[in-house]
Amino acid sequence: MKNIVLIGFMGTGKTSVGKILSEKLGFKFIDVDEVIEKTTGMKISEIFSRFGESRFRDIESEVINLITKRDSQVIATGGGVVLRDENMKKLRGNGVIFCLKASENVIFERVKHCKDRPLLQVENPEERIKELFNRRKPLYEKADFCIDTEGLTPEQVAEKIIERL
Ligand code: S3P
Repeated sequence: MKNIVLIGFMGTGKTSVGKILSEKLGFKFIDVDEVIEKTTGMKISEIFSRFGESRFRDIESEVINLITKRDSQVIATGGGVVLRDENMKKLRGNGVIFCLKASENVIFERVKHCKDRPLLQVENPEERIKELFNRRKPLYEKADFCIDTEGLTPEQVAEKIIERL
């Protein structure tokens, strides 16, 4: 079976939904950020601060290359995976792509206290979310299916995805 790939902005629930979905389908669960942290032995924030975003994006692409060689997995990606077309091509090659959506306000409420998202460690995270959100919106919309997560539990979002399979 093809992989099920979850894309979407930070805080849209890709990891929580992915875990539930993989259990329901009996698929292996892969969290791209977790693989990055395990293979490098560093937290995402440390990779950003020591080597910069562009090195992080290279590592992210290396991990995508590796994991897309297998199938029957649920893959939760990091929010910026859409920034490189080569990542999306690899993921699409043997996967169905679902985008998890939520409004900017809901996203801000969910991530405002999180210290482990380096792109949001700025003076005005709300403004940063708006800016990234608008820039990335057309990229997320390239998914095969978009799922509105607002007002739904991760369990309900997983059910919605299963209905579309
Ligand atoms: C990022 C999202 C993060 C993580 C990194 C960069 C982004 O993942 O990959 O901090 O560019 O949106 P989550 O979407 O799981 O927070």
